[in-house]
Amino acid sequence: TFPQSFNLVFFGGAGDLVTRKLLPAMYQCHKNGQLVESGRILCLDLQDLTQDSFLALVDDKARQFVPEADWEEEIWTSFLARLSYLKLDATQPEQYGALKTLLKKTPAEVTVFYLSTAPFLFATICANLTRQGLNGPNSRLVLEKPLGNDLASSNAITADVDRFFYEKQVYRIDHYLGKESVQNLMALRFGNSLFEPLWRRMWISNVQITIAEDVGIGSRGGFYDKTGALRDMVQNHLLQLLCFVAMEPPASLDSDAIRNEKLKVLECLVPFTPEDVLNKTVRGQYRAGVSGGRQVKGYLEEDNIPADSKTETFVAIKAEIANWRWAGVPFYLFTGKRLPSRLAEIVVNFHDVPHHIFPLPSSGTRAPSKLVIRLQPGEYIRLYLNAKAPGDSMELLPVSLDLDFAGKFKGRRAEAYERLLLDTIRGNQALFVRQDELELAWRWVEPILNSWAADPAGPKPYAAGTWGPSASSELLSRDGFGWHDED
Ligand code: BG6
Repeated sequence: TFPQSFNLVFFGGAGDLVTRKLLPAMYQCHKNGQLVESGRILCLDLQDLTQDSFLALVDDKARQFVPEADWEEEIWTSFLARLSYLKLDATQPEQYGALKTLLKKTPAEVTVFYLSTAPFLFATICANLTRQGLNGPNSRLVLEKPLGNDLASSNAITADVDRFFYEKQVYRIDHYLGKESVQNLMALRFGNSLFEPLWRRMWISNVQITIAEDVGIGSRGGFYDKTGALRDMVQNHLLQLLCFVAMEPPASLDSDAIRNEKLKVLECLVPFTPEDVLNKTVRGQYRAGVSGGRQVKGYLEEDNIPADSKTETFVAIKAEIANWRWAGVPFYLFTGKRLPSRLAEIVVNFHDVPHHIFPLPSSGTRAPSKLVIRLQPGEYIRLYLNAKAPGDSMELLPVSLDLDFAGKFKGRRAEAYERLLLDTIRGNQALFVRQDELELAWRWVEPILNSWAADPAGPKPYAAGTWGPSASSELLSRDGFGWHDED
């Protein structure tokens, strides 16, 4: 249930994420009538801004980031009336008095503190909020990634936050969980009895999870070079998608019912030995090439990247889950920057039939059934089946049954942050990462990080605008599989 009133407080409130993503998302919620009248948004930042210059900044950004079709001047103006700005240095305890005074002016049933700041500030902010008496039973804390750079630093963040906030108050964002298509995966699996009996090793040969991006690292060089694709995408988004594909049916939609099941999957992930890292992972780094029809720089020529950087911009991994449902079924994870297109999808490949009565198709290969769950762009679920080609032979051709969401459900699809922000206000943690999940994800990723760090070979180069190093196809072809190729 939605509270009667709320204060949503953004630390880093004039920063990129807030002005580019979070405020536009809140505008959409406001426009859809999803926010109570008395909901207030307070933006805190170090920047020397007045209320007016802050609103001008927000206005400027929103005009770039809210789609034109959703822009309504009058509604935008009424949305701005919810916003206030306060200059605050989060490291200075004495400055929290002003925050307290402001919050007292609009007493609310729920107060959400959203830390869109560098993680080194988390502990200080939590401590200062608590000392000012701002951390009550109805206060919530939202944390943005990166939540650590490795297991130890992630655990240190957890320990810092844990001193002041209960886990029930903490909302760790993985924006992939806010995507409609990810929630649809649950609907597909647990709202239909059709797939569940087949959703296991007896019927599924392998699963491929891809998040490909055509963009490079843009202006994020400083951050990205310390991070790399494994930390940036695999530790969080890809592992979360893997959990949603592999988890057992939860008993209910209750936050912990879902998160307990995801945790069990993470517990069953087979850990990597140094030898596995050599055989089951591929890391790559883009070189100059052609992307989107134009020549683009290589990673090493991007701003703020050391010329000898070994940071990976591409990862392919063969993951395995040691439990009754999935033993022996590879889960191939694949992500990279400067690939040919932006595309996120999950492909569930079924086994071939056990006995062939039809001739080999003229293509020379048989096409076992597969289910493609396209997360973006253009959400759909597509089930590829074999059908008889018209004519007098019995040649089979793969054809697809399509569920195209834009075609089936009219109206706009909400952006991930809309759902996630609403959930923090209504107190639903189901789409947020619990501490134990975070820890296990780091635990699994860490041996890969360590082996790579110790390997002088570094990442394999690939030209921008291609699908990454050829070794990633070999990862599958060795097992007799190939990447799903969209037609
Ligand atoms: C972020 C990463 O978490 O996800 C970015 O830090 C990446 O590097 C982004 O570009 C991808 O998200 P989406 O929603 O555009 O697929």
